[in-house]
Amino acid sequence: MAKRPTRPVNDAGHDDGGDESLERLRRHLAFLGLTHTLDTLDDTLARALRERPGPTSLLERVLGAEAARKLEQRVTRRIDGSGIREHKTLEAFDWSFQPTLDKAAFAELAHLDFVGRCDDLVITGKSGTGKSHLLMAIGRRACEHQLYVRYARCVDLLDDLHAGLADGTYERRLKAWARPALLIIDDVGLGQVKKRDNEPTAAHALFNLIDLRHGKASTAVTSNIALSDWGRYLGDATVAMAILDRLAMLAIRIDIDGPSYRQHVAEKRASAKANKKPAKE
Ligand SMILES: Nc1ncnc2c1ncn2[C@@H]1O[C@H](COP(=O)(O)OP(=O)(O)OP(=O)(O)O)[C@@H](O)[C@H]1O
Ligand SMILES: [Mg+2]
Repeated sequence: MAKRPTRPVNDAGHDDGGDESLERLRRHLAFLGLTHTLDTLDDTLARALRERPGPTSLLERVLGAEAARKLEQRVTRRIDGSGIREHKTLEAFDWSFQPTLDKAAFAELAHLDFVGRCDDLVITGKSGTGKSHLLMAIGRRACEHQLYVRYARCVDLLDDLHAGLADGTYERRLKAWARPALLIIDDVGLGQVKKRDNEPTAAHALFNLIDLRHGKASTAVTSNIALSDWGRYLGDATVAMAILDRLAMLAIRIDIDGPSYRQHVAEKRASAKANKKPAKE
């Protein structure tokens, strides 16, 4: 067990309040919710006795560490609440694998000015080209910047809104999805959009949401089908056109024209496996 430091002594060599003062300090820290400072108090006091920093630098060090911990917890809560479940980052993206992709454009997006401008973002491309990876990475970055982000696959978002029709919470759910500063609607074109008998249909629900957000907050979308196929996918060509019309107005468009990374990983695995097999006589 770590040895408790001896009673704090100030620069002049005077007793620094003693055990009672130390107990009061612990109670203050607990009351103020400065849990990191409380948990590390023994170490902090021991270090202060050893290094004897000035009062300003001691306070700055202690409160700086507490603030950093609080920020970290806040970002973790934002990421957890966003619905982004995979840890994807721009740093982990292999840009050399997708040489036609404009790396500078993503560096610019990572600054998140487009969210401040309420611009939309539409990324299209074939399966496995990294669309979801890139948007999850940008979503994570936005959480780190303390922005309110929500992420959902298109079918899950539509299912959530549909559930609201059954229990009378449709409007409330629609408003909730309209609130985030950045809403990521991933994988338009993937998964079966269920046929709705009751209004609004899937296409109408998505339209209502995009219309609510249009010009007020950023919506980022990925799609592995051509935008011209959205009508067929959503089951209503006219409403799909109205959605695209709004998205097109304020959207940054990126098309990833390249190979599938999934395919690449599968091929690498297969060749590693083949190389492991003992050579036939
Ligand atoms: N250039 C890349 N560098 C590193 N990992 C990549 C790259 N491109 C894709 N990946 C990884 O490959 C997998 C598939 O990528 P992702 O899910 O982003 O593809 P997608 O374009 O969204 O495909 P789909 O249209 O099928 O949804 C993920 O695990 C992702 O992290
Ligand atoms: Mg995807």
